[in-house]
Amino acid sequence: MTKKKTHLLGFMQNGFNSHATGMWRHPRDKVNWDYGKYDYWQHIAKVLERGLFDAFFIADQLAPYSTYKQSSDDSVRYAVQFPCNEPSTIVPAIAAATTHLGIGVTLSTAFEHPYSMARRLSSLDYQSGGRIAWNIVNSFSHGEWNAYGVDGRERGDRYERLEEYMEVCYQLWDSWEEGAVIADKASGTYGDPARIREVDHQGKYFRCKGRHFVPPSPQGRPILWQAGSSDRGRDFAAKHAEAIFSVQPTLNRMKEYTSDLQNRSVNRFKRKPNEVKRIFGLQTIVGESRAEAEDKFERIKECIPLEGALAWISGHFGLDFSKYGLDENVSNIEVPGIQGLFESILYAKDGAPVTVREAALIYSQSMGMPVALGTAKDIVDQMEVYLDEGGADGFMLLTTFTPGCYEEFVDWVVPELQRRGRYRERYSGTTLREHLSEY
Ligand SMILES: Cc1cc2nc3c(=O)[nH]c(=O)nc-3n(C[C@H](O)[C@H](O)[C@H](O)COP(=O)(O)O)c2cc1C
Repeated sequence: MTKKKTHLLGFMQNGFNSHATGMWRHPRDKVNWDYGKYDYWQHIAKVLERGLFDAFFIADQLAPYSTYKQSSDDSVRYAVQFPCNEPSTIVPAIAAATTHLGIGVTLSTAFEHPYSMARRLSSLDYQSGGRIAWNIVNSFSHGEWNAYGVDGRERGDRYERLEEYMEVCYQLWDSWEEGAVIADKASGTYGDPARIREVDHQGKYFRCKGRHFVPPSPQGRPILWQAGSSDRGRDFAAKHAEAIFSVQPTLNRMKEYTSDLQNRSVNRFKRKPNEVKRIFGLQTIVGESRAEAEDKFERIKECIPLEGALAWISGHFGLDFSKYGLDENVSNIEVPGIQGLFESILYAKDGAPVTVREAALIYSQSMGMPVALGTAKDIVDQMEVYLDEGGADGFMLLTTFTPGCYEEFVDWVVPELQRRGRYRERYSGTTLREHLSEY
């Protein structure tokens, strides 16, 4: 029987400190690197490409989190995903430094018209030779809404608006027909107006009348990536996404998620089984021995400030955790923020109660992702279980210290994956869609 191979993505934010809170304090983090400079991102991208990764995935939020104590003070004080540059600004630098690596970019639909969104994504996909994925988000936090001076929308409304948003983007991306570009110097004719349809959309949320400004990019449209995980979010992902990013803390939760997503995409949206790639979050801590990895893990956890951790969970889940006792159990409620990630901490101990303190510390170390810790062999053993039993098609690797954690993964874990026939030996295509559909 052929073994299922894995896809791999790096996962960061274009800022000072990505997802593991307090990691900037680690002695091996960003040594002689400046996160605000292109060469830092280009170096990491080259490491990922050396490791034959499918893509480098850049998360984002639009403003500092300000739910904790109704202020962004602790986000600032503890560098909780703060400060953060705009994500698409590093895409051209990464594309120019690599030839195969895909680039996933998180761009929020909340405050931008679909016309400019479709144009920007077509431009990036065109210029990178077809290597772009769009992580479609609709912004969930008070800090973001306040910064843009807009009243928050409730979840149902957010997703209804997002459906229409996608409809406008699809119309724009599909509006250039085959043969639209003539570019005949002799006659002086560049384009054939009959083959570039003007979009005319008059909807509940958006109006758009005009031609798409960019020719079809190599992928036609970017890979549509989604991480919505509430009931509405899962439906949206099952309908639109080519790949989903999900955080499930245990094998059981992965199995449940896989079967739920398959059920929705196949039965509700008539898509083929396994058409949507399931990429699960994973944090890896590799050492030459298990003891070394355990020691490394302890040092990583020592970097997390509790107040910063509380600021982060408050921001992500939309609840002010300063109002809860640290030893109170976190209860299963519908949160206004990222429901799926909230569930990752509810089930972090396989259903056993989790206190507010534990929730904050677990989340701030791995964003609720399972941790694969040990030698390269130990780590690949764990990945194999997720691939074979959990329904994973690949992994989104959350950073610890950078760029070192990816250098170690590429040098130690990738060869072990290859030895076991679980990973590509070379890229077989050039576009991200080709990488993702290779197996
Ligand atoms: C694993 C994961 C990663 C996410 N990354 C981002 C992100 O980088 N930026 C963002 O604005 N939202 C992000 N989200 C939020 C969602 O994409 C979505 O907008 C939010 O979860 C609200 O939808 P939901 O209620 O369906 O979960 C992420 C969610 C998950 C589960």
